[in-house]
Amino acid sequence: MARAIELARRGEGSVEPNPMVGCVLVRDGNCLGEGWHRAYGGPHAEVEALRSCCVDPAGATLYVTLEPCCHHGQTPPCTDAILRAGIARVVVGQVDPFPAVAGRGIELLRQAGVAVDVGVLAEAAADLTAPFRMLVTHGRPWILAKWAMTLDGKIASRAGHSRWISNERSREATHRLRGRMDAILVGRHTAETDDPLLTARPAGPRQATRIVVDTLAQLSPRSQLVQTARTTPVLLAIGERADPERRRLLEEAGCELVVCPGADPAQRLEHLIFDLGRRRWTNLLVEGGGRLVGSLFDRHWIDEVHVFIAPKLVGGALAPGPVAGAGRAEIPPLASLVRPHVELLGEDVYISGRLPNARE
Ligand SMILES: NC(=O)c1ccc[n+]([C@@H]2O[C@H](COP(=O)([O-])OP(=O)(O)OC[C@H]3O[C@@H](n4cnc5c(N)ncnc54)[C@H](OP(=O)(O)O)[C@@H]3O)[C@@H](O)[C@H]2O)c1
Repeated sequence: MARAIELARRGEGSVEPNPMVGCVLVRDGNCLGEGWHRAYGGPHAEVEALRSCCVDPAGATLYVTLEPCCHHGQTPPCTDAILRAGIARVVVGQVDPFPAVAGRGIELLRQAGVAVDVGVLAEAAADLTAPFRMLVTHGRPWILAKWAMTLDGKIASRAGHSRWISNERSREATHRLRGRMDAILVGRHTAETDDPLLTARPAGPRQATRIVVDTLAQLSPRSQLVQTARTTPVLLAIGERADPERRRLLEEAGCELVVCPGADPAQRLEHLIFDLGRRRWTNLLVEGGGRLVGSLFDRHWIDEVHVFIAPKLVGGALAPGPVAGAGRAEIPPLASLVRPHVELLGEDVYISGRLPNARE
């Protein structure tokens, strides 16, 4: 199962909005075949593994990170392929949260006489499907927040200077992250002060739409984002009171405008997040600033963080931190991240991980 999980990760960025899935076929202690879901709409991991076998896999055990499907989606049911191949036993990491499957695939295999074990390395298998589950059960994308900060917890100086806090290796990691996202979101102030491009360089498996929450449609038509809107999509989440002339200029420049109704910023942000869910976007990377990240954190909507800490000090009560908003009243008794990953990138420390609320 550990190998199947490793294989599944190879589909990251290419399979969404489907989940990543990996599969290994074993008989008498020998690996007969392996496969993973490579791309959205393509064959499932089980079919890939069966196809990769050089010998007849009849009687083998099939390890798969997610319950085999039993419905006609974009491809025929995997349960059919498993039964046709004469597989004797199936070991499943996690039951499929998708309502059309949800245990039916396991039931069907058992009824056909296949031994099925469920829940092997369940936690790690569930990690693979977290963004998919978020979309299926809550109707919104998985939200990742990324920031670079100084040793004293600042994301810019008191004068708004923020380039560059982190080193080149940290920035390369950010570009890899961007390359597997459906969308990248920033606040209007960040778009204005940093004038970022927000593209993945080099390009990854997906091209993210760049989004700015900009209530009054104030983003400058001369900004890098607007100037490149015809080659890499830009979406502006605006309020109902945005000036029609500004809207026209931005639309003519190639930006998509989404009007988010609501009297306050939190309501408008909620409208945007569920609009992205309706587009079946599974991964949204929020790149600041502090006020935008704070709004999402207060709502318990940050599911995963990627933080780059540079050994630099800038000080200043007015220099912003990475998460504004109201914040929590008390320091959490336990770590805020589940099984955090900590890595040294040159002199920078890279900490990433998921928040516990994201697991529900
Ligand atoms: N080091 C890093 O990793 C990093 C990353 C990003 C930014 N930064 C720095 O952070 C600073 C900007 O951060 P910031 O906190 O001042 O601004 P911000 O979060 O980028 O933008 C805040 C603005 O976004 C708009 N907005 C719309 N809906 C919102 C909502 N629900 N919640 C919050 N904002 C909403 C509001 O403007 P409207 O009312 O006009 O819509 C608000 O004033 C800059 O100095 C930038 O350089 C650093």
